[in-house]
Amino acid sequence: MTESSIKYLGHSAFYIKSGDCGILIDPWFMHNPEVKFDLENEVVTHILITHGHGDHFGDTVPIAKAKNATIIAIFETALFCQKLGLNAIGVGMSGEIKTDFGSVRFLPAYHTNTLPNGEYGGIASSILIELKNGKKIYHAGDTGLTMEFQLIGDLYNPDIAMLPIGGHFTMDAKEAVLASEMLRAEKVIPMHYNTFDTIKADVEQFKMDISARGKYCAAMTINQVIPV
Ligand code: NI
Ligand code: MN
Repeated sequence: MTESSIKYLGHSAFYIKSGDCGILIDPWFMHNPEVKFDLENEVVTHILITHGHGDHFGDTVPIAKAKNATIIAIFETALFCQKLGLNAIGVGMSGEIKTDFGSVRFLPAYHTNTLPNGEYGGIASSILIELKNGKKIYHAGDTGLTMEFQLIGDLYNPDIAMLPIGGHFTMDAKEAVLASEMLRAEKVIPMHYNTFDTIKADVEQFKMDISARGKYCAAMTINQVIPV
């Protein structure tokens, strides 16, 4: 079976290693001295972007250039990357895209999507990743609480859900507990909180609320790696 792991790079950024593939999601971390990521030596084959806001699109351009990585994003966001000379695959909602690490599906997020140049980047998305070991990881991107989670839970039943809990720009911790129920994920990883004053969240309370629903909350610290 393929060895796979998830590393937390702060905010909504994660690095998934699976077999020969290295997948970055929403890679915004190069400004953060706390984050340890050896760009020169780490494998980065894919960059998945939920939407074009600066705290998600982040360091996509320098990393994609340095690693010749394949970007996967919603059509308009991918087109923006292609115009910058980057290698990008544009996708639409729900369609399964086969990749070297398994597959991805871009799914709805209840949010907006402005690109770094101020243009509209297409619909904001969440991402379902299915690794070759069968594990399904759902990264909700930036999203408000929406009944879409029910459908995603019913159809795809993810094993792990990465959910924003900081409020203001996304759902808050209480709403994320409801989202985790609808998604039916056994493991929940909170993200998008405590980065700015506007997105403060009580992660200890969130952990208790998730446990009370019979699920496990993995509140990852920056640079922490967990197997998947
Ligand atoms: Ni956003
Ligand atoms: Mn954000």
